[in-house]
Amino acid sequence: MKRKVVSVLLSTAMAVTMLAGCGGNSGSSAAPSEAAPASEAAAPETAPSAEAAASEIASSEAGTEAAASGETISVGFAQVGHESDWRTAATKSVQDAFSAENGFDLQFVDCDNDSAAQLEAVRNFIQQDVDYIVIDPIVSTGWDTVLQECEDAGIPVIVIDRTIDDSDKYTAWVGSQFTNEGLAAGAWLKDYAAAKGMDELNILVISGTTGASAQLGRSNGFDEYVKAEGWNKLDEQTGDFTQEGGQEVMESYCKSYEGKFNVVVCQNDNEAFGAQQAMDAAGVSYGVGGDVVLISFDACTAGLQQVLDGKINADFQCNPLSGPDCASIVQKLQAGEEVEKETFMAEPWYVAESDLTSITYKNASGEEVTEDLIPVTQEIVDAAY
Ligand code: AHR
Repeated sequence: MKRKVVSVLLSTAMAVTMLAGCGGNSGSSAAPSEAAPASEAAAPETAPSAEAAASEIASSEAGTEAAASGETISVGFAQVGHESDWRTAATKSVQDAFSAENGFDLQFVDCDNDSAAQLEAVRNFIQQDVDYIVIDPIVSTGWDTVLQECEDAGIPVIVIDRTIDDSDKYTAWVGSQFTNEGLAAGAWLKDYAAAKGMDELNILVISGTTGASAQLGRSNGFDEYVKAEGWNKLDEQTGDFTQEGGQEVMESYCKSYEGKFNVVVCQNDNEAFGAQQAMDAAGVSYGVGGDVVLISFDACTAGLQQVLDGKINADFQCNPLSGPDCASIVQKLQAGEEVEKETFMAEPWYVAESDLTSITYKNASGEEVTEDLIPVTQEIVDAAY
C-alpha cells in the first residue's frame, strides 16, 4: 500500500520544523550545533532494552494490523555489509522487525562495504517502487543526489545507525551518539590512568571504516581528550571495522612501535579481537594487569566476554538493535502520523574493574554529564547481542 504523498509531505513539514529550531534534549529531534554534527547533538533518547522490547511489541502489533488488513508494506534495506558481530546483530534486528508476519515484504541487500554498490541498491529499490527505503550508510557523504531521486519518486527514506551528513532529504534517522562514545572513552581513560598512576600515555588507534560517521565521531570525540590532556597519539590507521583489519594494523604497530605504546584503542570489538591476536603473537600483554590498556566499542557478546575475562579494559556500547524503532517509524508514516527526525539509542559503558564507578564529561551537546561505568557480569554477557 502506498502513502508516499502523505509521507513526503510529512517529511517536508518535519524538515521545516527542524529548521525552525525544534530540538534540545527533551525530544528526539536535535538542533544542529557547531560543537557536533546535527545528528549527534542531543542526549540519548531511546531507553535500553525494556523500551526496545516495548517498541518491538508495538511494532509487531501495528504490523499484525497491517498483515490482517492484507496490506503488505514493501521495504528495501541497503545494509553496510557483514564486517562485524555488531553488523550481524543489526541485520537480524531489522529482518526480525520487518518480518512477513509483521506485514512487511523486506528486500535485503548486503552492500559488502562498497559505497557504489550501496547507491546502486538504493536506485534498484527506486526502480522496484518499494514503499520505503532503509539505509545504513557506509560513509556519511555522497548521498544528496540519490536521496533527491528517492524524494522525486515519493519514497520515504529512513536512515539507521550511521548518519548522512551532506543531505537532509531523509525522513527519519535512528542510531548512536558516536561522538559521545569517543568522548566517554577519553573521559574513562583519563580517570583510569590517574587511578593507576600512569603518567605517560602512548596511544595507538585502530579506527573504523574511513569516512563512516561511526569512525568520525569516535575519532573526533577521543581526540578532544588527546589534545586537552596532551596524550601522545603515536598513530591511527583503519582496520575497516574487521577482525582481519585489526590484526593486520596491530601486527604492523607491534613492529613499528615495539615497547613504545601502553594504550590501544580499537573502534569496534572485532578489531580488538584481531589486535589481541597480533599482540599475543608479539608477546605483548594487555587488559587488566597487562602492559597495554585495551579499549573497544560495540559491547557485543564476545566483546563483553573479553571484558569479563579482563582482556578488554573498557567497552563503549553502540546499540545495533534499531530494527523495532525503524519499523515503528514506518508504521507511523503508514498511518499518516508524524515521526521524530532523529532517535538516539541509549548506550551504557562497560568496564572490567569496579574501582571507577562513573565518568563526568562534556558531551557533544556541550552539557556536562555523569554516566555510570558498569562492571560486566555473566548475566550482562548472556543478555547481549
Ligand atoms: O556503524 C556501527 C559500526 O559499524 C560498529 O561499531 C561496527 O562494529 C560496525 O561495523
